[in-house]
Amino acid sequence: MKERIIIDCDPGQDDAINLLLALSSPDELDVIGITTVAGNVPLQLTERNARMMCDLAGRSDVPVFAGCSHPMVRPLKTAENVHGKTGIDGAELFEPRQPLESRHAVDFIIDTLLDADDAAITLVPTGPLTNIATAFHRNPSVIAKIKRIVLMGGAMREGGNTTPSAEFNIFVDPQAAGIVFSCGRPIIAMGLDVTHQVLATAGRIARIKALRNRAARATAGMLEFFSRHDSTKYGADGAPLHDPCTVALLLKPGLFSGKHCNIAIETQSPLTLGHTAVDFWGVSGRPKNADWIYAVDADGFYELLTGRLARFSDR
Ligand code: BDR
Ligand code: CA
Repeated sequence: MKERIIIDCDPGQDDAINLLLALSSPDELDVIGITTVAGNVPLQLTERNARMMCDLAGRSDVPVFAGCSHPMVRPLKTAENVHGKTGIDGAELFEPRQPLESRHAVDFIIDTLLDADDAAITLVPTGPLTNIATAFHRNPSVIAKIKRIVLMGGAMREGGNTTPSAEFNIFVDPQAAGIVFSCGRPIIAMGLDVTHQVLATAGRIARIKALRNRAARATAGMLEFFSRHDSTKYGADGAPLHDPCTVALLLKPGLFSGKHCNIAIETQSPLTLGHTAVDFWGVSGRPKNADWIYAVDADGFYELLTGRLARFSDR
């Protein structure tokens, strides 16, 4: 049976590529909606970028909703230094044909979950967790309807990419992350420990570029842009492709390895705000609430991504 998913995102090159990966996989995934949030860039750009991806994928059947324009408590911190002014610099931009739905993303999430059976819908958040936590806060009865949450966020062995201890998505809205990680439904967390293993090397980008369809061209352009910043920052061979680890896990779980443990979020300390305390060795006695993914078959991941992007044809 197809997995019914809502992708909650802040595109962002890697969010955008994650959308293309999901939208090219209709046999396995029923993408019932894309909800957008402020994060990498402000909300009016993230929703527009998501709509562009629907156009590139030829998926006008997937509705796009705009959600929260600010984190729950803190002021918004964006990341144009990583993603460029538009969030998807490197792609050829155009005016999307896909309309923006009038309903607020949080209302869409609540309505969709309330209509569903228990444990029926998978949430795939790849940005700050503001929309999801706001939905949980507003109507806690939606939580039982969730099958699992497969999210990009957090860091353990790699350390933080936004502060020494915090990864961007968790740092931007730690209060929201705290609510989501304590919701009680199964969580699979893709943190920097795993996403830093899927590097967009020149060879991998060249194979995507060679596909010669619009979506693949946009992907290659975004990866080239993304790689310039991250290669300098990390001294690595290419940019880590964070967010597509979520949909890749849904499509091919065998690519990944993880451990079931407790993950708690620091919401107070000025020094370590947004830190994900991953109790990998079970020393805290706190109940296990998430699978922490720490390893991936990177070649298998890029084979999957390249194969799915090859499915697009220009019309
Ligand atoms: C995460 O932050 C954003 O910059 C990326 O889109 C990804 O979701 C990585 O820390
Ligand atoms: Ca993101």
